[in-house]
Amino acid sequence: MQFQWYPGHMTKAKRQMQEDIKLVDLVIELVDARIPMSSRNPDIDELGKNKARLILLNKADLADERQNQAWMTFFENKGYFVVRMDARSKAQMKPVNGVILDACKEKIERDRRRGIKNRPVRAMVVGIPNVGKSTFINSFAGKACAKTGNKPGVTKGKQWIRLNKNVELLDTPGILWPKFEDQSVGLKLALIGAIKDEILNIDEMSLELIKYLQRDYADALCARYGLDTCDDPVKVLEGIAANRACIKKGGEPDFSKAAALLLDEFRSGTIGRMTLEKPEEYDA
Ligand code: G4P
Repeated sequence: MQFQWYPGHMTKAKRQMQEDIKLVDLVIELVDARIPMSSRNPDIDELGKNKARLILLNKADLADERQNQAWMTFFENKGYFVVRMDARSKAQMKPVNGVILDACKEKIERDRRRGIKNRPVRAMVVGIPNVGKSTFINSFAGKACAKTGNKPGVTKGKQWIRLNKNVELLDTPGILWPKFEDQSVGLKLALIGAIKDEILNIDEMSLELIKYLQRDYADALCARYGLDTCDDPVKVLEGIAANRACIKKGGEPDFSKAAALLLDEFRSGTIGRMTLEKPEEYDA
């Protein structure tokens, strides 16, 4: 899961993606529902132009349901098909097939007009590391994992998973590189655990997380750690340390332990379902 992007990596990933995208009708892009913008690389819009587009708002089980709805509307208004999901849940895969066919309606109709019948829609899954690509492919493909061999005219070595008579999935997902231009993007990726904690020190990260949570989730934060208020991030950390007996030998609060605990409980959804980005921050 850990990764470090260098220009060389990006160029290679991009070139691979360009090649793979040529083979498909539909790009299925996974984003993390807790940070839908920071967990996507907008370069995919250029790479995937002229293709049908489906965004999966993944890890929706960890995100604020009200924000999930708002983000679905946001992306739908931009012309994407959108499904929110917990990719670990096989039960949630059923509607996806219908949405795929809907997203590729134009292509299917074009085929029909040309007299081409029953040519399956081809799709590929893309997303940044750790967003849930493999989990989704496993849940979605289920037992259908029988791979079809190379096809004439298709790059040698490409494996397709035949999901049913209508849909084929490229078996290897495309890895998108995160876009770190804005510092807050790296921070948010670190907060959800998508990149190494070493990028920032853990105490600082927890203070930044508290600042995000103060805004929309103050009550949940206070309730979880028995705090009266959460106006001051340092006091919040102190409060967490006291509440959870994170104490050093001399009786001093162990801030790092409290910070790690907070990050852990945030990432696992234990404090509650929370989203760090809102669509209104991105509406032009
Ligand atoms: P990737 O291929 O995009 O790199 O991601 P991958 O599927 O490996 O998923 C990364 C982690 O995210 C996994 O957890 C996976 O179980 C978890 N995950 C994927 N989709 C969802 C989701 O919708 N909701 C939640 N809550 N978690 C999800 P892990 O801790 O790395 O592995 P494991 O403990 O599950 O084995």
